[in-house]
Amino acid sequence: MNVLKNTTALALAMCLQYAEPEGTAVDATCGNGHDTLWLSEHFAKVYGFDIQKSAIETTQARLDEAGIENVQLIHDSHAKMADYITERPRVIVFNLGYLPGGDKSISTESGSTLEALAAALKMLEVDGLLCITMYQGHCEGYLERLKVLDWAKSLDKGLYHCIRTDMVNQPNRPPEVLWITKKKEA
Ligand SMILES: C[S@@+](CC[C@H](N)C(=O)[O-])C[C@H]1O[C@@H](n2cnc3c(N)ncnc32)[C@H](O)[C@@H]1O
Repeated sequence: MNVLKNTTALALAMCLQYAEPEGTAVDATCGNGHDTLWLSEHFAKVYGFDIQKSAIETTQARLDEAGIENVQLIHDSHAKMADYITERPRVIVFNLGYLPGGDKSISTESGSTLEALAAALKMLEVDGLLCITMYQGHCEGYLERLKVLDWAKSLDKGLYHCIRTDMVNQPNRPPEVLWITKKKEA
């Protein structure tokens, strides 16, 4: 797949560099389950979150069809991930915004997103990767992206590296991927 044609593929291409057959990964926004399925094929254990029951059901159906059994799906907000996960994840993926083809009024919100990102960064393994895809094309997504970037810019440069994509020839505020690596514990 040409990763420059598809933001999700680009986001996961970096995750592949961090993949560990013995490791744990988290899909913080299951949606239709594409990222969850991908993670399940590259990690020993995967946790998946979504606030929409239909998203959890769609994801479970996708996993069942593929015969995948190493995923625990959780119908709850990713802001509560620390209540469910005991391992130190190697990779944590957020695909922000609303479910494609679903109810656009049910979208990630900056308050719970920032809460979840802080929890994710805390539990992430040293040398692990936090991967966030942001959609600035719609108004709420644009505002959420500003808050996420402000948060990322405030992170201690001695502890984290943050890098963001910039698709310079794409019109209309294209999606962006923000990757954060943890260099050492706070
Ligand atoms: C862009 S979609 C994710 C697409 C998905 N990764 C895929 O492969 O199809 C965003 C998802 O985030 C979910 N979501 C919104 N707020 C959430 C929250 N606080 N906790 C967990 N999931 C949330 C939505 O229900 C929606 O399914």
